[in-house]
Amino acid sequence: MADTIEITVNGERHSVEADAATPLLYVLSDNLGLKGARFGCGLAQCGACSVLVDGREIRSCVTPVGTLTGAKITTAEGLSAANGNPHPLQEELIAAQAPQCGYCYGGMMVKAAELLATNPNPSRDEIVAHMDGHICRCGTYPRLLTAIEKAAARMRGNA
Ligand code: FES
Ligand code: FES
Repeated sequence: MADTIEITVNGERHSVEADAATPLLYVLSDNLGLKGARFGCGLAQCGACSVLVDGREIRSCVTPVGTLTGAKITTAEGLSAANGNPHPLQEELIAAQAPQCGYCYGGMMVKAAELLATNPNPSRDEIVAHMDGHICRCGTYPRLLTAIEKAAARMRGNA
């Protein structure tokens, strides 16, 4: 029997009918229609399904939705500003033409946003270390790293 679970996603509260053990990823996609987090490995190994929970990245494919009552969940769709303007990171990723098939980028974006929220001036090594564990089968890593650096500079007001 389904449970009624209250979750807050991208600033909106939702009451969803789901078994508490259901991975958050399925609830985001099937109950809320949010497709930014994607199913890759289903084993917490690739990062395609990543979202932020209270500002920290988690793998939604292995996180039971029932553990998230009261938490603030942010998906790639929720990174935009309240007025709809894209996050600087999103703009720089587009400018760099970083996403190719784009499948991994919902997770890549939230992971990079997590970094920039706490470290406004990360070194290349810090970015590489932070993004470790996010797999891109299209091999877009060089453009990804450049876009993160440019977004950081813009957010500091240096570009
Ligand atoms: S689908 Fe969740 S980490 Fe790969
Ligand atoms: S852009 Fe295709 S998997 Fe990353």
